[in-house]
Amino acid sequence: MHGECKVALLGFGGVNRGLVELIIAHNSRHRTPTIKIVGVSDLLLGHCINKSGLDCEMLLQVPAREGAFAVLGNAAPDNEGVISDSGCDVVVEATFSNVATGEPGASLCEAALLAGKHVVTTNKGSVAHGADRLSSVAALMGRKFLYEGAVMSGTPVLVWATDCFPGARVTRVRGILNGTTNFILGQMEMGFSFNAALEQAQHLGYAEADPAADVEGLDTRAKIIVLAKSVLGRSLSNSDVPCEGVKAITSEMIAQAKAEGRRWKLVGDINVEGDELLAKVGPVKLMPDDPLSGISSVTNALELTIEPLGVTMVTGPGAGRVETAYAVLSDLLRIVGGLVREDEKTDAG
Ligand code: HSE
Repeated sequence: MHGECKVALLGFGGVNRGLVELIIAHNSRHRTPTIKIVGVSDLLLGHCINKSGLDCEMLLQVPAREGAFAVLGNAAPDNEGVISDSGCDVVVEATFSNVATGEPGASLCEAALLAGKHVVTTNKGSVAHGADRLSSVAALMGRKFLYEGAVMSGTPVLVWATDCFPGARVTRVRGILNGTTNFILGQMEMGFSFNAALEQAQHLGYAEADPAADVEGLDTRAKIIVLAKSVLGRSLSNSDVPCEGVKAITSEMIAQAKAEGRRWKLVGDINVEGDELLAKVGPVKLMPDDPLSGISSVTNALELTIEPLGVTMVTGPGAGRVETAYAVLSDLLRIVGGLVREDEKTDAG
């Protein structure tokens, strides 16, 4: 894989289409690594494979219509065939998966790892419910399993939280982790109704395929479970995280909070109490001096309380197809970077 990375895509919705756009731009700006798409499978469109690389511009022309991949290959989906027959180095899993169960994404990630592929996913459900198993399979197979896009889209909070504080102790993880609900609450502050604001969030590509996952807090819960695993090294399940969404927040409550100088936000929170993690997701009426209070629209924020530093915070885009696709590109480049170094070591030896 000298200077070249062959990628298979599972799912061809907004995120993987955004990735193809970023790959075209990347390949035009950088001579190496060249990123090639060698296979794509999508439940609706079908599948296509070209071991020498599919034409990215042509891929982007394919409409989101049943069987549309017939023009490039086959009208039927074939995830397994694309994993095994495309000659890919990395599988990018961005299928429509259930946030509460992680399926079918988690099983697809496992199949790809077992086939000896590196895996990048943006599916927080797959990571929240499968990370223990998927990380072990990855280690067993000597492959990487990366998921930067599972939390705060392209804002690199997992790399930040896991790599930047060696020797420190994290005592609290708290954040605004869902772009759709933060956008909705902001629009309601401007006088829009809940439903009108949700429609805008869907139109802008922030919401999940089933937006109930956003407004009921399930998306934030999955992200809290991912953070517990990657930042604190602890496994939580859905039942460990009491979860309430934003559906009970009315325009009157928003107006009342505004009059008090406060703002309603959907907050995910993990407190480390001795050996215990106290995790929860729910709406909080924040005081104006709370660092999370100023986080508006689709912007998200992750706050870590750390001994001996105190409170540190990263803010940035929390949703969006190209923003999430950027997380995938960054993971691909991390994988290629690592492999190129290994290849070079072998050559030198
Ligand atoms: N629906 C999610 C959100 C997408 O609004 O945050 C990014 O995970």
